[in-house]
Amino acid sequence: MAKNINYEPSRTLMEFRLLPGQTSKESTTEKISLTTPLVYSPGNEKKHNLNIPLVSAAMQSVSGAEMGIELAKLGGAAFIFCSQSIEAQATMVKKIKTHKAGFVKPKTMKPDMRISEMYNIRKDTGHSTFPVVDNNEIFLGLISKWDYEISLHSDYQIKDRMISLENVKVARNIADLKEANSVLLESHKSVLPILEDDGKLLYMIFRKDINDQLNNPLEVHDEKKRLLAVASINTYDYKERVAALISAEVDVIAIDSSDGHTIYQKESIEWIKKHYPQIPVIGGNIITKEGFRYLVEAGAGAIKVGMGGGSICITQEQKGTGRGLATTIIDVTEERDKYFKETGKYIPIIADGGVTSTKDITIALALGADYVMMGRYFARMEESPTDKIVVNNRVMKPYWGEGSARARDWKLKRYNQSKFVEGVEGLVEYAGRLRDNLEETLAKIKSSMSTCGVQSIKEFHEKAELELASALSIREGKVHDIYQATESNEKQEDETAN
Ligand code: IMP
Repeated sequence: MAKNINYEPSRTLMEFRLLPGQTSKESTTEKISLTTPLVYSPGNEKKHNLNIPLVSAAMQSVSGAEMGIELAKLGGAAFIFCSQSIEAQATMVKKIKTHKAGFVKPKTMKPDMRISEMYNIRKDTGHSTFPVVDNNEIFLGLISKWDYEISLHSDYQIKDRMISLENVKVARNIADLKEANSVLLESHKSVLPILEDDGKLLYMIFRKDINDQLNNPLEVHDEKKRLLAVASINTYDYKERVAALISAEVDVIAIDSSDGHTIYQKESIEWIKKHYPQIPVIGGNIITKEGFRYLVEAGAGAIKVGMGGGSICITQEQKGTGRGLATTIIDVTEERDKYFKETGKYIPIIADGGVTSTKDITIALALGADYVMMGRYFARMEESPTDKIVVNNRVMKPYWGEGSARARDWKLKRYNQSKFVEGVEGLVEYAGRLRDNLEETLAKIKSSMSTCGVQSIKEFHEKAELELASALSIREGKVHDIYQATESNEKQEDETAN
């Protein structure tokens, strides 16, 4: 006889409905904040917050550098996939961290350097304007592509061609980006160096970045105003991988595993915490209270939950392991809250796998998740790393599981049980730019929260009231008993839209 048989069926997100609370003037949609902790990180709460409760899955067909940049600009994070070489993954992280956003600290040049040497650096970095500083980081001037002609000046020293300090518009000690932008806009210049009182270079801001920043008020960044980067690792080559990712200045590491309640994951987390205590580690996936305790006690600062629900996932069919995501969230967040009471440490929970529509996201948050990871949702976007294809006049993008034959082509030992696959390969309908899709998704989440009378995700956890819906009541909640004469009859049934 089995040790434990639970006759209470596990539940999916689709089965729950929210009951309205009282909407007040404080819980109108404009006043709702979707800020949520990314990972437990004492002293670094600001840096390790997301401004929207959404992250993209660590998958080859979802989270590359382009997704990492755009999603961080919009307030979330892409978990950069690890089913690729260490070098390729570190390059993606570097791309995110060196993406110009707001205040930037560009590579500096020394006055006695040859123009030819700087020209090579320019080719590598793609930047055309560099600040020139002395050995004490004191700002001496600027050199840009307009200040030299490589065929004429390659042997000159930078100091012979740079625009020196007295002819450069600079600002001192401005910490507020908006204020810095307005100084730049008034200056007629394309760039504004910001100096400390003693003349040391702090940052530069560029006119061409201004619109970008104004369009991205929710952007998540580190203390140097560089976009936040999260990268996944496996439990095989993690020692070298973590070192390379940290050199690329990754902010947070996430262990990518379909079953995280293992000694391998425990050892990986402990090793990282021992060697790089400053780097927060996200563990998972687990689906039980015991799994939560096991990883948190090993040092994990956030826990990803879910098994068997992903849109490309056949784990339940292949192995018979898994659990409905709603039950998982309910169970694990109860343990999270208990752990918080015992220790004062709040460990965020990430709901992962099978979150297909905005109402699923909202229900997951209401049940206690701090944010949601999605693969299929993001795979449909322009910014996912796959090419669009046209099938039967529909624009599609390929999407495949990390446990599918296609992903495993990448060879890693991680799939040492390679006698069977745990994921499939398919197509998803192309949805356009992430920015446009997110706008609608976030508006719907806020609207539900407003209906429930809450202003923040924390308050949502405390006040949400949910109810299981019967199959008939779910059916009643869809369009019924009318005729809609469009080719999209199918589409109305399609839960996969935003
Ligand atoms: P989706 O948002 O429903 O598409 O699910 C994405 C999630 O499925 C990922 O974040 C992973 O947790 C999980 N996943 C990714 N690849 C596979 C696979 O091949 N088999 C099973 N689960 C997978």
